[in-house]
Amino acid sequence: MIPSAFIDDLLARTDIVEIIESRVTLKKTGQNYSGLCPFHQEKSPSFSVSQDKQFYYCFGCQATGSALTFLMEFERLDFISSVEALAARLGLSVPDDRQRQSSEESQRRKSVLLQLEKAADFYRVQLRSHGQRAKAVDYLKNRGLSGPIARDFGLGFAPPGWDNLLKALALSDEDVSFMIDAGLLIDQPEEKKRYDRFRDRIIFPIRDLRGRTIAFGGRIIGDGKPKYLNSPETTVFHKGRELYGLYEARKSQAKLDRILVVEGYMDVVALAQHEIHFAVATLGTATTIEHVERLFRQVSEIIFCFDGDLAGRNAAWKALLIVLPLLSDGRSAKFLFLPDGEDPDSLVRSEGSEGFVKRLQQADTFVDWFFRKIQQDLVSKNTDIDTISGKAALSKLAMSYLNNMQEGVFRHLMIDELALKTGLDKERLQAVTAKYAAPAMDPQPVAEPGLADHREISESVDLALALLVLQPDLALEFNSSEYEILLGRSQDNLLAQIALRISSDGLTNPGQIMSLFSDKHQQRQIRQAFDYKPILGASQLRDEFVGLIQQKLKQQQNETKKLRIEGLLNKNPSELTASERQLVRQSFPTPES
Ligand code: UTP
Ligand code: MN
Repeated sequence: MIPSAFIDDLLARTDIVEIIESRVTLKKTGQNYSGLCPFHQEKSPSFSVSQDKQFYYCFGCQATGSALTFLMEFERLDFISSVEALAARLGLSVPDDRQRQSSEESQRRKSVLLQLEKAADFYRVQLRSHGQRAKAVDYLKNRGLSGPIARDFGLGFAPPGWDNLLKALALSDEDVSFMIDAGLLIDQPEEKKRYDRFRDRIIFPIRDLRGRTIAFGGRIIGDGKPKYLNSPETTVFHKGRELYGLYEARKSQAKLDRILVVEGYMDVVALAQHEIHFAVATLGTATTIEHVERLFRQVSEIIFCFDGDLAGRNAAWKALLIVLPLLSDGRSAKFLFLPDGEDPDSLVRSEGSEGFVKRLQQADTFVDWFFRKIQQDLVSKNTDIDTISGKAALSKLAMSYLNNMQEGVFRHLMIDELALKTGLDKERLQAVTAKYAAPAMDPQPVAEPGLADHREISESVDLALALLVLQPDLALEFNSSEYEILLGRSQDNLLAQIALRISSDGLTNPGQIMSLFSDKHQQRQIRQAFDYKPILGASQLRDEFVGLIQQKLKQQQNETKKLRIEGLLNKNPSELTASERQLVRQSFPTPES
């Protein structure tokens, strides 16, 4: 890892025109430079380099990127070597580990991590030796867990009481402030109160890929609320990025070939108890694109596990949409739906590992689930998919999604499947592709090089995204948790990813934002966003951006509420709690209104 601030600085001090000019003959045309594209064969120049935006774009083959990407592609260098090449030109050396750690921020992170490690040790010791350890140990035994598994996952016990951890760990005021930053203590300065976050709970340490403890989950022993308590987001813990059990899964097996994504801590641990060592859990959030990217870096197959009810199916569809643009040849995703009222923990305990593995083998493939879901949606809108118009509707709907997929064998297989289902031949479907391209993916009309800057913002570009790349510090108007909400919406996913990276890594350079994404569709969307020329002043831009994001959050909130109500309507009314019943009642118009 090279610090992003260094890369940012590097790109800010590099002129892309100089980099490219020394390798490709460029001519100034209007505001930009153009030349013959080095990435495909051509006779007339369609390769354009923008000096003010610091990126290149080929109108012929769509190649695009920053100075860094250019070096990688043109010189066939890997990322680090390209960074080194750029740095060498400027007489800089890429900072190494030691230099980086001297920075104040990383010192603080280290101290926070140290407190977390000490806390993990403390909780483990309590599970072995606290006066009330018996109830914690019995609880774990009753749930079928053995000593070795508790050890592998580093399970612990936070004893009852308000300040056990505080007293044990906080030797100085500095320690206290690190513990607060680590999310270990709850701090209420107005009331001059400060106390342990985790009390009288079973403790599940959450570890990063290197095995460092970065957060905790705490389960109540027996019944009570909240059932699970989790560390808040901290400088070292981001729920949208981390997966519980990934470190342990990697450690238990020399080579992982697939990963099962489940919902709960206990599911992961119970599966491991039954020799299924490849399960991970999201941490009380929906699956994000970062989760999926991270998993595909480890394995080529991801199996998502969901409840079989409506809420589970909706979550499974959201996961499919997140996976869709990331699926490339050799990668696969599967979807396992569980029987009502069961979770992996209960199933593996009742059916044993063989029963559970059998279920895994029968999981829906991506293709199965994709077509099942869109067919269900059409049928629920009274579309008869056996009629000609029904088949047209199916093709149109399917293609609007398939257009978001990377070009490759897998996409062709999906189109073959659609051809089979609709009886339309592949060429006809490809024609449909062009016609019903998903809005955000609309290909730009091919323009003359140099004209790009004068083009109006295309309707297909998300204005919020355009404003964000224009003025990256707008990202700071919202918290990362708000952007994480938007990650789950396919139409806002790219925007949310960029906003998160800007706020976490302080990116400010357009070329750097561009170089974060290797997916062609995403690059094209970003490039289109860069083409936006604002008519508004800076403060109006800010208001506009804030308004747009608020609107998106509101839409998502409404969708979530709708899903929840649909879920509740699916249940037996007698099972609903009073507040759930009220929610359902409110969703129907009352006679007065
Ligand atoms: P579940 O309510 O499905 O619980 O929550 P579970 O995993 O089956 O737990 P057991 O078997 O009763 O012990 C699934 C996940 O949702 C998050 C946790 O990450 C949990 O593992 N969750 C749930 C919370 O964060 N807080 C809660 O109060 C409940
Ligand atoms: Mn459970």
